[in-house]
Amino acid sequence: MHPHVEIEDLETSLERAAEIVAGAERLAVLTGAGVSAESGMRTFRGAGGLWEGEPVQEVATPQGFQRDPARVWRFYNNRRSHLKTVLPNPGHHALAELERRWTSSRFALVTQNIDGLHQAAGSSHVLELHGSLTRIRCSRCDYLRECPEEDLPELPQCPSCGRLLRPDVVWFEEMLPGNIWELAVEAVTACRAFLVIGTSALVYPAAGLIEMAIRLHVPVIEVNPDRTPISNAATLSLHGPSGEVLPKLVALLPPEQSP
Ligand code: OAD
Repeated sequence: MHPHVEIEDLETSLERAAEIVAGAERLAVLTGAGVSAESGMRTFRGAGGLWEGEPVQEVATPQGFQRDPARVWRFYNNRRSHLKTVLPNPGHHALAELERRWTSSRFALVTQNIDGLHQAAGSSHVLELHGSLTRIRCSRCDYLRECPEEDLPELPQCPSCGRLLRPDVVWFEEMLPGNIWELAVEAVTACRAFLVIGTSALVYPAAGLIEMAIRLHVPVIEVNPDRTPISNAATLSLHGPSGEVLPKLVALLPPEQSP
């Protein structure tokens, strides 16, 4: 068992967290919008959240896309343009450093984000639960393409079948990509410490990974400036912005052994 430890002082909690992480043979991480907040990406549920002004059901559901694809594409094209102006922050870089230290066979990074900032920071194995803003796919056939830079028309058409293209993201009421979900479940099941960073832990099935770790008695370390529904059940909650907390956590790990 890893009961919740109430430590008020961030420095003490960080030391404890570094001990848990350092002793974990395998690590898994779940990130949410908060990890990109310091890069200038708006979170979903905070003040000035991303959905503000656009009802979720109109821009992030299959029904919304059917009703008004141009509106949905305007929304995602704006997000794609904004993406070109943002850079990964020290939180993303710290997670890339953890992957380098643990190596991909003992480290898994699962993200709910579609911004690609983990990869931009150097993380090479990222399990994207909710897809990616930089990919497009056909709403009918198998056509799928990476297109990070291109400006897309308001109603892009599939070059293969002529139907409408759509962003390769998961909308509400849609299934997560099954293979990615299975890999995420495997990672959480096998890990010896689970870092949960910058997520409100409200959206399922992603939030179910945290419950899974708690049920398996895996130590859960949360990094979030605010309390969330999992703060009480987490082994430790590090209350601060991930761009500051994660580099400190990595700095507290024991130095690497030279070969
Ligand atoms: P939310 O917007 O729900 O939550 C963001 C979390 O980040 C909040 O708990 C904030 O307190 C925290 N946060 C803010 N600034 C932070 C910082 N600097 N460092 C660390 N944490 C910070 O975003 P998600 O939990 O990612 O799904 O939302 C989950 C899913 O809901 C999204 O992937 C998206 C959305 O609807 C789909 O689009 C399918």
